[in-house]
Amino acid sequence: MRICSIVGARPQFVKAAVVSSALREVGEEILVHTGQHYDEEMSDVFFDELGIPEPDYNLGVKSDTHGRQTAKMIAEIEPVVEETEPDVMLLYGDTNSTLAGAIVGSKLDMEVAHVEAGLRSYNREMPEEVNRVLTDHASEYCFAPSENAVETLAGEGITDGVYMTGDVMYDSVLAVRDRVAGNTAVLEDLGVSEDEFILATVHRQGNTDDREKLESILDGLAAASQPVVLPIHPRTVDRLESYGLWERADEELELVDPLGYLDFVRLLDAAERVVTDSGGVQKEAFFLETPCVTLREETEWVETAECGWNELVGTDTDAIRTALRKDEWPETTPNPYGDGNASQQIAEILEREVESVEAQPQT
Ligand code: UD1
Ligand code: UDP
Repeated sequence: MRICSIVGARPQFVKAAVVSSALREVGEEILVHTGQHYDEEMSDVFFDELGIPEPDYNLGVKSDTHGRQTAKMIAEIEPVVEETEPDVMLLYGDTNSTLAGAIVGSKLDMEVAHVEAGLRSYNREMPEEVNRVLTDHASEYCFAPSENAVETLAGEGITDGVYMTGDVMYDSVLAVRDRVAGNTAVLEDLGVSEDEFILATVHRQGNTDDREKLESILDGLAAASQPVVLPIHPRTVDRLESYGLWERADEELELVDPLGYLDFVRLLDAAERVVTDSGGVQKEAFFLETPCVTLREETEWVETAECGWNELVGTDTDAIRTALRKDEWPETTPNPYGDGNASQQIAEILEREVESVEAQPQT
């Protein structure tokens, strides 16, 4: 079996770390990095720390408008597929790299597999929502992280090729949690103590490309009674600078460069709570039982909010301030996201399915 995996953005490296190693146990992987993220701390650090194999192809697409970026990826992925002739195209999540892979796979009439299938925020203003809907509908294999995702797919008429595997990010957290436990270096570097700081991340287009919303978030974070550590995404650096908000943010928050996964998970585990608009961070907070305040009106990771561990507050300053002071969080954590072996299940299902397709008589 030969799988072509497409990655390009930070969360996809975290997911590929666990899935790649499972895939390579059962077959051959052609790993393609679109180059959507390219800064050392947004890309290389994950390959180094998590032992992800060097990409076979780096397409070097970099940043551009959504349309041009996606188009460049499509144009660059297609010849790779023609040259390497994989059995399946494997895609992660909901970025432009995901959509580009789905389009190439479906145009070349090959089998497409989607990890994190069936998630919906029902907010079509988010580019990610459109990417994930289109990718699910172009996929022969939909790997759903929860039963809820399976039901969502069924509601859209997708029932064949749907597998509830659990969430690969749960596998990722389990793989590093014990490795980083007790490590105090990153806390010491930042001058913060266990349970006495807030960890924040902000990068969503809807939050950063609107000056008023970004300033409102900043006001909310600045009202925290504990230090706020904000490993800052390059998009957010760019917007704070262009809105003239950088100096203020730098004074009121602990701004640091984006962190490697090991330090980030350690901080997430040690933080008193996390404030974020990231999809992945909402889940990781949930797995580590760190209360989460989400800077969005809705989430595709509905289970984290339904059980009370994740409070959706949007960008209103007062709502953020109030959530930061809330001190009652659930006593128990359900586990709707599988058993921590999603990656292995995905590899085994693909191996079995590819073998069965190959065994069919050619017509
Ligand atoms: C992308 C994904 C988003 C995901 C996020 C993960 C899409 C539509 N969005 O958003 O779903 O949550 O990645 O972090 O695919 N930049 C750099 N260096 C880099 C990467 C980006 O400077 O290595 C800057 C550039 O100014 C760029 C901006 O960040 O224009 C945005 O990057 P882009 O990849 O287009 O979108 P993200 O906001 O990172
Ligand atoms: N992450 C990281 N360092 C950081 C911020 C995030 O390693 O400074 C990891 C985080 O643990 C998660 C992933 O990056 O695994 C989430 O990526 P991001 O928030 O950029 O994207 P999203 O999940 O929202 O698509």
